[in-house]
Amino acid sequence: MVKKDVGVLDGKVAIVTGAGLGLGRIEALALARAGASVVVNDLGVELDGSGGSEAEANNVVREIEALGGRAVTAFGDVANWDDAQRVVQTAVESFGDLHILMNNAGIQRDGMIVKMSEEQWDSVIRVHLKGHFTMIRHTMNHWREKSKASGDPKLYGRLISTASDSFMMGNLGQPNYAAAKAGIAHLTLSAARECARFGATANVILPRARTRMTMSGPWASIFKAPEDGGFDTFAPEHIAPLVVWLASPHAQNVSGQLIQLWGKHLRVFAPPTALLDHENDEPFTLENIQALLGPVFENKRPIEDGFALPMM
Ligand SMILES: NC(=O)c1ccc[n+]([C@@H]2O[C@H](COP(=O)([O-])OP(=O)(O)OC[C@H]3O[C@@H](n4cnc5c(N)ncnc54)[C@H](O)[C@@H]3O)[C@@H](O)[C@H]2O)c1
Repeated sequence: MVKKDVGVLDGKVAIVTGAGLGLGRIEALALARAGASVVVNDLGVELDGSGGSEAEANNVVREIEALGGRAVTAFGDVANWDDAQRVVQTAVESFGDLHILMNNAGIQRDGMIVKMSEEQWDSVIRVHLKGHFTMIRHTMNHWREKSKASGDPKLYGRLISTASDSFMMGNLGQPNYAAAKAGIAHLTLSAARECARFGATANVILPRARTRMTMSGPWASIFKAPEDGGFDTFAPEHIAPLVVWLASPHAQNVSGQLIQLWGKHLRVFAPPTALLDHENDEPFTLENIQALLGPVFENKRPIEDGFALPMM
């Protein structure tokens, strides 16, 4: 029988990055409701990564405490090596251990490639991809040391990363964001193989929800709450149960998965499949490549019939 989610994370310690606002806040509250002690990391920045404030993270800590949960703030930049190490240390020093890393922090600086500045590219790759890496790196180091000290190779560990279907679609106008999210997916798949030695798991979520990230821009109208009071498909609260489930003992044998979720819709991606898988008798030449691939692509549309999923 499946246990009730309340208490399913009793005794566990979780970090949620970027937990001051949006999805991270919802995830931190849900993990706390399920019994976890939560380290609330945030930098309190604007959507484009500018500014910085401790107020957002402190507010979420107060919200968790008001629910009767346990939480501490760990202000800091996930993409800064030392800050990320301090966030992990905060978990261990405040609550004695670290079991769950919910990597969520992110920024958005969209633009077409021809107009994108070097800094616009670097900042998005840095916060998302390096930010996921530094947090995974320091978390896995804690697990390695814990496992060496106890002599028990197996422990309770969960890495959950946040990608986006922007990378599956190769979104127009989001080359930096799509590339960062693709990197996060593959970083996490590699982490899944490595952390299996500790009995830990690593998975990727691809959420769709109404936050400040989706309340402006070309898709804002899709993400709006219904005016008739009907089911609110893009309410960020719908993402929380998947995060709690992945963090819980229910998902002990779930690792290396990409799971998309919005509203009442959940999609588990299968591994990429080959459209053509051909062993040639002779080494390839321009002529025999044309003879082989010409017919394959003859009736295919460029882009629409390519690797990427269709745009929303
Ligand atoms: N909203 C969606 O539909 C959607 C879709 C796909 C993926 N995502 C991803 O979900 C995650 C959360 O996004 P959101 O929609 O809640 O956006 P949001 O802007 O509401 O929240 C992002 C949070 O990350 C924090 N942050 C930014 N840079 C940071 C840094 N360097 N260190 C620590 N904290 C930092 C911000 O201060 C903010 O609190 C992001 O990774 C985003 O790319 C969101």
